[in-house]
Amino acid sequence: MQYGYFDNENREYVITRPDAPAPWTNYLGTEKFCTVISHNAGGYSFYNSPEYNRVTKFRPNASFDRPGHYVYLRDDETGDYWSISWQPVAKSLDEAQYEVRHGLSYSKFKCDYAGIEATKTLFVPKGEDAEIWDVVIRNTSNKPRTISAFSFVEFSFSHIASDNQNHQMSLYSAGTDYNDGVIEYDLFYNTNDFEGFYYLASTFEPDSYDGQRDNFLGAYRDESNPIAVEQGRCSNHTQTCYNHCGSLHKQFTIQPGEEVRFAYILGIGKGNGARLRAKYQNHSEVDSAFEAIKAHWETRCAKFQVSSPNEGLDTMLNTWTLYQAETCVVWSRFASFIEVGGRTGLGYRDTAQDAMAVPHSAPEMTKKRIIDLLRGQVKAGYGLHLFDPDWFDPEKADVKPSKSPTVVPTPSDEDKIHGIADTCSDDHLWLVPTICRYVMETGEMDFFNDVIPYADGGDATVYEHMKAALDFTDKHVGATGIAKGLRADWNDCLNLGGGESSMVAFLHYWALQEFVDLARKLGQLDDVAHYGQMAKKVQDACETHLWDEDGGWYIRGITKNGDKVGTNEQTEGKVHLESNTWAVVSGAVSDERGKKAMDAVDEYLYSNYGLHLNAPSFATPNDDIGFVTRVYQGVKENGAIFSHPNPWAWVAEAKLGRGDQAMKFYDALNPYNQNDMIETRVTEPYSYVQFIMGRDHQDHGRANHPWLTGTSGWAYFAATNYILGVRLSFDGLVIDPCIPTNWPEFDVTREWRGATYHIKVTNPNHVSKGVTSLTLNGEDIQGAIPAQPAGSVNQVTVVLG
Ligand code: NOJ
Repeated sequence: MQYGYFDNENREYVITRPDAPAPWTNYLGTEKFCTVISHNAGGYSFYNSPEYNRVTKFRPNASFDRPGHYVYLRDDETGDYWSISWQPVAKSLDEAQYEVRHGLSYSKFKCDYAGIEATKTLFVPKGEDAEIWDVVIRNTSNKPRTISAFSFVEFSFSHIASDNQNHQMSLYSAGTDYNDGVIEYDLFYNTNDFEGFYYLASTFEPDSYDGQRDNFLGAYRDESNPIAVEQGRCSNHTQTCYNHCGSLHKQFTIQPGEEVRFAYILGIGKGNGARLRAKYQNHSEVDSAFEAIKAHWETRCAKFQVSSPNEGLDTMLNTWTLYQAETCVVWSRFASFIEVGGRTGLGYRDTAQDAMAVPHSAPEMTKKRIIDLLRGQVKAGYGLHLFDPDWFDPEKADVKPSKSPTVVPTPSDEDKIHGIADTCSDDHLWLVPTICRYVMETGEMDFFNDVIPYADGGDATVYEHMKAALDFTDKHVGATGIAKGLRADWNDCLNLGGGESSMVAFLHYWALQEFVDLARKLGQLDDVAHYGQMAKKVQDACETHLWDEDGGWYIRGITKNGDKVGTNEQTEGKVHLESNTWAVVSGAVSDERGKKAMDAVDEYLYSNYGLHLNAPSFATPNDDIGFVTRVYQGVKENGAIFSHPNPWAWVAEAKLGRGDQAMKFYDALNPYNQNDMIETRVTEPYSYVQFIMGRDHQDHGRANHPWLTGTSGWAYFAATNYILGVRLSFDGLVIDPCIPTNWPEFDVTREWRGATYHIKVTNPNHVSKGVTSLTLNGEDIQGAIPAQPAGSVNQVTVVLG
């Protein structure tokens, strides 16, 4: 069953049936003001932090996404009313037609009902901490119509997301006021005139208004049938206390074939309502603000565009996967319809991986995140698993204007900096390749010499920070020389403690290889030798202790009691995705074993919806292995199709030269390919999800937790760098595809350091891998393509054979 389609020309997903089985969401805002909005206009806004500075309220629920950012229309001759989004009024779909276009940082709602065609486009203009609702109402009937429009948002009565749920004292310390077309909302304890001061303005002169939610909705009613809309007029009431809303009402008379256009503006900061109200009375200001958002994303997407025989891959890489990956870099895991701002900060490993995918499209943001992470690393080399980057930002550490001192306690140093008991074994290692990717992209070799403080005092160059990360893992190994599992490794639920993690050993090897290449480039020959030996030691330990000869795959780890996890003897948790993919991705193992290991992945873990994380699921609690054994079978880390490690399998297969397998695994997970299976998938088909129910669960195939997942960054990185094979090294641009044998050709346009490369890859002999010739502007090239002058446009031809 299908609820919409991809409109690639406009980079939009078009929802044609608003009764999709769950709210399908989008992110508005490219700077600090953000709104998470569903296809039924449910959702919430916040400024800078989804935990603090909540602008509008949200009552999260899987399919009941309220309140939202609504516009109601009322036919003042008949009293009939509806909303431009299907919800909350929810007219019968036999009478009204709805279409929603989720685009890049905007959402367009369209409704056609009773001779009135209305659109509402929501977006956050660049440079403003506000959301514009651009509304057009058109009379498509053959008689003049008298139509009233009403806005509705419910202001958050607290800075803090959790207080909004708990109804605490802040309920009694906020109030609304009305001034000249603007409903102003002030949190009384707010310490400045910016944060905690919200508004809703209209570009029209309102006929009536409401600042009190319950006056607008009426007793024993909800957003589906507000009394004000029913009666055709708001109560003109504002006051302190209780619950607050922004409703501005205007009646329009519209002639047949004519339309009216106006805007609502929802924002933050005293005085901004009046200013933006004046500014956006001019429609061309609204248009140019919208065009700027479009241009923002066009510029970013243009850094890498592909045209291949696989339309689903093109659609996702050219638009949606990059968009999702950047969203994760900005909002980490904390602002969605699943994570509703209950905690904020950066997950160390999450951000370190997310940032690896986007140095080409968002270099400044990538660099900022790398610095945040380096500041969140302690001298011993590990990273603080979850931290607020403001804690360690010298410009923000002492002054916290964004957080009211009465509301947000500043944690003590002991609370910020945890010890080894809370340390994850993988967090810090992801930093090394991410930093290398950033510098390969920008050429900023001096970055390695920048001095960055450690979280627990002292400082070091970026290069030394990287060594500290590698040294930490070298020192924390178990009895066999394999890295300890500690609190967890990448898998939050695998809590091996003093036991050993094969995945981390392989990850360590990968990071060491990257670092040795870097050290060689920098002429640090002592480090080349030292870390080269370290890598050899890790490799030997892996090949000696991790191969399960009986099964023909790599085990997942060893418990502190010396029991192996993931052997052929076991009936639960027999084969694991992380260890087998990382064995190959790391480059630590032989081709022969790598192929066997990935064959086991195919045999035991493959499904039409992607690769399972482990199989069969654990059914017996075992705290030496970890919480994974207490999660229901087929769910999340216990035998679900956990999306994030799927791209590791694509990289592994590409490294093995098996392009058909890489694409088989890519296609299975690709949400695009599940667009017509929404009765099973449920979730939006333009976003990767955290996990899909595995075959050991009755809802096998149901997708859960869209948007904020490390899958997007890895999917983007793996498919562009390893399937299409267009990636960077310290020596230049490498073209080394591994594609399905039935692809005759594909084209990529890559922008790198200001130059454009039009890359045409042909595959006359239908192979997967192996470049037989490569030319740059007609000249033969051996190896990597050196950076060409900024502004140049270059033709690259590649023949596989
Ligand atoms: C989601 C977490 O955000 C991520 O850090 C972790 O790696 C995965 N779950 C797997 O446990």
